[in-house]
Amino acid sequence: MKNILIIGSNGQIGTDLLAKLRQKFNNGQVIASDIRNPKNPDPKFVLLDATDRESVRNVLKDYQIDEVYLMAAILSANAEKMPNKAWDINMQVLFNLLELAKEGLFKKLFWPSSIAVFGPHTPRINTPQYAVMDPNTVYGISKLAGERWIEYYREHFNVDVRSVRYPGIISWKTMPGGGTTDYAVEIFHEALKHGRYTSFLAANTRLPMMYMPDAIDATIKIMEADQERLSIHNSYNIAGISFTPEELAAAIRQYIPGFTIDYQPDFRQAIAESWPESIDDRMAFKDWHWHHKYDLDSMVKDMLKNLEKKYQAGSLLYQMDL
Ligand code: SER
Repeated sequence: MKNILIIGSNGQIGTDLLAKLRQKFNNGQVIASDIRNPKNPDPKFVLLDATDRESVRNVLKDYQIDEVYLMAAILSANAEKMPNKAWDINMQVLFNLLELAKEGLFKKLFWPSSIAVFGPHTPRINTPQYAVMDPNTVYGISKLAGERWIEYYREHFNVDVRSVRYPGIISWKTMPGGGTTDYAVEIFHEALKHGRYTSFLAANTRLPMMYMPDAIDATIKIMEADQERLSIHNSYNIAGISFTPEELAAAIRQYIPGFTIDYQPDFRQAIAESWPESIDDRMAFKDWHWHHKYDLDSMVKDMLKNLEKKYQAGSLLYQMDL
């Protein structure tokens, strides 16, 4: 029996990860933590500010934690609004966990990186595992620095850190918090509530995305992989579905025929244009048999089905044929 701690359990990925890990370990010792209390009371939740190393140390000791999933971060769009604070938070939480792992307080860390580590000079189509990396966002710079540090801690202090570069993650349980790829979640809510959406990215902006069940699958899979099989010690490219706002709108229109979209690109457009369009994830496949399952249509169908249930209490304007 191992004890697991999720830091950032109220967030977009943390919410789904918590549910999946508790299901997998039959509600065993999976401790949830976040800087804010969860909506529903949870006896296995601890309020935790992960920038405070001593508080993290106490939780690790109190619950005899073996593995940590560090899901707390300031995402790309929010980070641009408060560069220094975002850098401090993103790096501090990582260093706290790396140092505590080095001290031997727990055995294994999951820390997510992002497609944001790539930049304007990176090849944008089928971006390889190893490429020019010149991120020009605070978030991307912090993730790239983090990738270098996790490899450093592994090499010098034998700290076991596992990492993947998440693309934009699409989910229905919890909204994303301040990323550039958030449009791909907002669009579903607006389609169901109002039958129209104004996208903050231009019609033809292609970005790498992934449906949440695939993201959770990748996360747990890499944590469970034999360490000897992992040839990459910074972070693995993982790919899902690449599409544009226009293509996503067309896919939604299959189920909500009257759905309309218009475009008012804002500062996030420049961020999106500095990122890849699609990702080459052959190394993840080779080393730990990673492959995504959802394509555009199966993702759209599942999103609408689950969100429709969620909105059932309210009045839906559009009838769907799912
Ligand atoms: N979804 C993230 C963002 O947009 C990318 O890692 O910031």
